[in-house]
Amino acid sequence: MTYQVILPAAGLGKRMGAGKNKLLLELKGIPVLIHTLKVFEEDEACKGIILAIHPQDEADFIALLAKYSVTKVINLVPGGEERQHSIYNALKTVNSDGIILVHDAARPFIQKEQIHRLTEAAEKTGAAIIAVPAKDTMKKVQDGVVVETVERSSLWAVQTPQAFRISLLQEAYEKADKDHFLGTDDSSLVERLKHPVAIVEGNYDNIKLTTPEDLFFAEAILEKRKR
Ligand code: CTP
Ligand code: MG
Repeated sequence: MTYQVILPAAGLGKRMGAGKNKLLLELKGIPVLIHTLKVFEEDEACKGIILAIHPQDEADFIALLAKYSVTKVINLVPGGEERQHSIYNALKTVNSDGIILVHDAARPFIQKEQIHRLTEAAEKTGAAIIAVPAKDTMKKVQDGVVVETVERSSLWAVQTPQAFRISLLQEAYEKADKDHFLGTDDSSLVERLKHPVAIVEGNYDNIKLTTPEDLFFAEAILEKRKR
């Protein structure tokens, strides 16, 4: 099962507080962006990468693609104000046939085996997302007070990649654009079409680098994988 992947990489990394895009930070001497790109470079099922980038990062990113001999980036598109806008810009450049993945460039630890389970599920149902069962007890809170303890067994923490039939994701993005709907992931746009979205159980180590302490977890994950 072949696929193309959109990598939104056009954020500012404000919560990381590094003073630059967090994707340029290095883990074991290699930029986060390259760690993520390498997963798809090395997966023979990946037929093309569309990278959404912030104009201020363009020169740095292009230099890195050359330095690390990245060959599968078929398109660089400008990012938008929000993640969803960046992905929409990328989605407009792909044809309607086949499967598309959307994967945060800030999640460098996704593994090929999970990607393949995900694309198989998306091929069957049209839409599939990687998620893990919630570990913590979850409560609904309002004004600093607990309203309710939510039944944990039905709660999943959602990650990326998320995989879709391209025509379905394009329809979902067009509708969201028309309705001015802003979701926190891609699946939520597809859910608005009442299309079923399959869950594929992933790994807890597929973390998104968001705040500075995530860099310590990331080094530890890389260390563990070396052994
Ligand atoms: N992203 C994007 N376009 C935006 C915002 C985010 O392409 N307008 C990308 C980021 O580069 C990242 C992914 O979406 O790979 C997930 O976003 P997030 O973790 O929130 O990264 P940032 O937006 O960079 O971080 P922050 O919210 O802390 O500024
Ligand atoms: Mg953000």
